[in-house]
Amino acid sequence: MRTAFSLFHSHLDLAHSYWSKLLTREDIVIDATCGNGHDTLFLSQLAAKVYAFDLQEKAISSTKTLLGDVSNVHLEARCHSTFPANIPQSSVKLIVYNLGYLPGGNKELTTMTETTLASIKAAEQLIMTGGAISITCYPGHPQGAIEQQKILEYVKTLPPQLWNCCFHEWVNRAASPSLLLLQKAREG
Ligand SMILES: C[S@@+](CC[C@H](N)C(=O)[O-])C[C@H]1O[C@@H](n2cnc3c(N)ncnc32)[C@H](O)[C@@H]1O
Repeated sequence: MRTAFSLFHSHLDLAHSYWSKLLTREDIVIDATCGNGHDTLFLSQLAAKVYAFDLQEKAISSTKTLLGDVSNVHLEARCHSTFPANIPQSSVKLIVYNLGYLPGGNKELTTMTETTLASIKAAEQLIMTGGAISITCYPGHPQGAIEQQKILEYVKTLPPQLWNCCFHEWVNRAASPSLLLLQKAREG
């Protein structure tokens, strides 16, 4: 976190402060887009166990290098549209998405609206009551703008008795990254 901005500077600072508030050392977490592993490493220091997934082997290999001898992370190359069957329903405290493309990688290999929505729906089943789904969106590129819009349209349909949904947007920075938080209020 940047010391000059003690409250928040970026969407990632803001996301990290929510994650830190939510998680305890007993919790299970999923990083559904591990990329170069920066969020995975951060989460591994807050939770008991982190499952980290990415479509690209290149991302898994970068994350492995960054993690070094960190032992509480399960890394797997897979699409996040489904999650492994051995992760029980209502057992996960936090599922994190940092959408978009791998920094420094192929910009064509970005998250896609259809698979992201399928994944969020699968994530809803895995989250425990009081747990949350955290989604950072990047509307500054065309696919990212469509993705954010479709996710917001979907999230607005979630029953308020079951989900508390909150959207952070930098209103004085054009097309800047945003943060969407969905907290499960109770099981449906
Ligand atoms: C913005 S990057 C994540 C950055 C990461 N959080 C970090 O700290 O470095 C987004 C990642 O999502 C991955 N991705 C895209 N589509 C995916 C999918 N369907 N399933 C899993 N990962 C996907 C990309 O390969 C890319 O590495």
